[in-house]
Amino acid sequence: LFANLNPSAILFSLPKIEDMVTFKITRVESAPIDGQKPGTSGLRKKVKVFTQPHYLHNFVQSTFNALSAEKVKGSTLVVSGDGRYYSKDAIQIIIKMSAANGVRRVWVGQNGLLSTPAVSAVVRERVGADGSKANGAFILTASHNPGGPNEDFGIKYNMENGGPAPEGITDKIYENTKTIKEYLIAEDLPEVDISAIGISNFSGPEGQFDVEVFDAASDYVKLMKLLIKLLCYCFRSIFDFQLIQKLLTSPQFTFCYDALSGVAGAYAKRIFVEELGAKESSLLNCIPKEDFGGGHPDPNLTYAKELVSRMGLGKNPNSDPPEFGAAADGDADRNMILGKRFFVTPSDSVAIIAANAVQAIPYFSSDLKGVARSMPTSAALDVVANHLNLKFFEVPTGWKFFGNLMDAGLCSICGEESFGTGSDHIREKDGIWAVLAWLSILAYKNKDNLNGGELVTVEDIVKQHWATFGRHYYTRYDYENVDAGAAKELMAYLVKMQSSLGEVNKIIKGVRSDVSNVANADEFEYKDPVDGSISKHQGIRYLFEDGSRLVFRLSGTGSEGATIRLYIEQYEKDPSKTGRDSQEALAPLVEVALKLSKMQEFTGRTAPTVIT
Ligand code: G6P
Ligand code: ZN
Repeated sequence: LFANLNPSAILFSLPKIEDMVTFKITRVESAPIDGQKPGTSGLRKKVKVFTQPHYLHNFVQSTFNALSAEKVKGSTLVVSGDGRYYSKDAIQIIIKMSAANGVRRVWVGQNGLLSTPAVSAVVRERVGADGSKANGAFILTASHNPGGPNEDFGIKYNMENGGPAPEGITDKIYENTKTIKEYLIAEDLPEVDISAIGISNFSGPEGQFDVEVFDAASDYVKLMKLLIKLLCYCFRSIFDFQLIQKLLTSPQFTFCYDALSGVAGAYAKRIFVEELGAKESSLLNCIPKEDFGGGHPDPNLTYAKELVSRMGLGKNPNSDPPEFGAAADGDADRNMILGKRFFVTPSDSVAIIAANAVQAIPYFSSDLKGVARSMPTSAALDVVANHLNLKFFEVPTGWKFFGNLMDAGLCSICGEESFGTGSDHIREKDGIWAVLAWLSILAYKNKDNLNGGELVTVEDIVKQHWATFGRHYYTRYDYENVDAGAAKELMAYLVKMQSSLGEVNKIIKGVRSDVSNVANADEFEYKDPVDGSISKHQGIRYLFEDGSRLVFRLSGTGSEGATIRLYIEQYEKDPSKTGRDSQEALAPLVEVALKLSKMQEFTGRTAPTVIT
C-alpha cells in the first residue's frame, strides 16, 4: 500500500549506469575523542562539540563498525531528524559516509525532517519505490533540548524494528569510539538536494548508491489513519478518525496544539487540520525552526508557557481557554496533555489511556496485550493493570526498554513520567499518538453529547478515574546543571543510607511526624524478561509503608554537568481526598526528601530549576 501511494514511485525509473555520478572511497585517519558515550537516548552535546573535526564522523563510523560491515553493506538507512541547527550538514556527512561504507540506499525525509516516531514508522512500514525496506536509522535530534549554534545537537541509531539500539549495541559503539583509527567517506560525492522529493543515483567502487528524498508526513499520516501490521493482521485502523473529526468540528469543542516550533509542526496541520477538521487557528508554533524559536522545546508546565496560559493556567491565564490542549517536544515523541485550566500528569495520562483503550481506541478493541511504565513513573498504571487483569511491567527509564516487550507481544501501551506515551504501533513514544488517544477518549465519552449536551471534559475524565482507581499524587523536582561530582556524592550518600533504615526513619520522624516509615530501600535493577539482560543502578528508591515513594536518579539526557531528578509520589485511595492541590498534598514528603538527601548541602541549591 505504501509503495502504491508513494510519490517517489512515480519518479522512479532505472538510471543508466553511465549517467550516474561516480564517487571514490577515502579512508581518513582519525583518533578517539573523549566523551562519546550514548546517554538514555543517543549522543547529545553542544553543537560546538559536534562540529569539532572528526567528531560526528567518529561516532557514525563507530556505529557502522558496531553493526558490522556485513550488515551495513547493501543496507537501506533512514537519515533524518527534528531539523535542529547543524542537521543539514550532518545529513550530508552521513550520506557520504554511508556511501563509503557500502550502504545501498539512504532515505531522507524532505528537508531532513522526520519526527522520531515517524522514523520508527518509516523503518517498520515503508516500502521504497524499488521494493526495499529499511534496516535502520540515524535520528538527528537532541529531543527536548534547545537548538541553535550555541545549543544542543544529537544523534542516535535505531534498529530494524524501528526502536532505539539496545544497550549491547550502544556499549559497542562507545567502545569503538575509544579505539577508532579511521573512517570511510565519499568526499567527492556531490551534496544531495534534500529539499526536493526524488531519487539521486550514484556509482561507487562497490556498486550503486541511491539517496531518496520523500514526503516527511505522508507515510506517517497513512499509518495513523489506515493501517498497521500489514503482514500480521488484516487492515485495521488505530483510531476512529471519523469519530475524532466529529468532536473536533463540533462548535462545543475547542482545541489547541503547540509544537513548540519543533518537527511536530510538520504533521500537525496535516493531521489535525486537514484530516480531522480542526481550525488552523488551533495550531501554535507549528512551523519547525532550527532553533525552536529560541525556546526550550520541552512540553511541560515550565517551558510550554504560551500553551499553558492559553489553557488558563500559569501566569497571564486566558479567561476563555479551549477544552483541550497539547504540546510536543522538538522531535515530537513527547506530549503534554491539558484540559481547560487542568494539567494531566504523564503518569495519570498513560493510566487513563490504558483504562479506556479497549472501548475508545479501535486498535486495542480486541487486543490489549499488556502495559508497562518506567520505574520512576507513578503506580497509577499498576492499579489499572491490576483492575483489568493486564500483564504489567516496570522497566528502567528509557523507551528502548519497552522494545523487547513489544516485540515479544507482551505489551501494547507504555508510558513514562517524562511526558512519553505510546504503543506497539511503532517502537518509539509518540507525541501525536498520545493526543489522538486522548481525543479518541473524549470523542467516545461525548459521542451522544455533541448536539448541545454537556461535554465530558478532560478534568471530568481524570477525576472520574481517581474516583475509581484512587489518585497518585505526583511531582518531579529537577536540579539541572549541578556539579557532576556533587551529584555523584549525593547519590552515593543515598545508597549508603539504605543500609540503615532505622537511621533513615529517625531522620524522617525528626522532619515530619506525619510521614510514614520507609519499609524498603534499594537501587532499581532490571532483568529483561525477554532476553535476560540485566541493567543495574537504575535509580535509588525509598519505598514507604503507606505506598509512597521517593526516587532519586541522575538524568541520562543532559549535555552539561549533571541533572538530579527527584520523583515524589503518594497514593490516596479515599475518594473524598483525591481533589487536593498536588504540591500541597506532597509538601510533607518533599520536605523529607530534601532533608534526607541533604540536597542543599550537596548541591548548594535552595530550589529546583524545574518542577513538574
Ligand atoms: C528520553 C527518553 C525517555 C526517557 C527520558 C528520560 O526522552 O526517550 O525514554 O524517559 O529521556 O530522560 P532523563 O533525562 O530523565 O534520563
Ligand atoms: Zn523527544
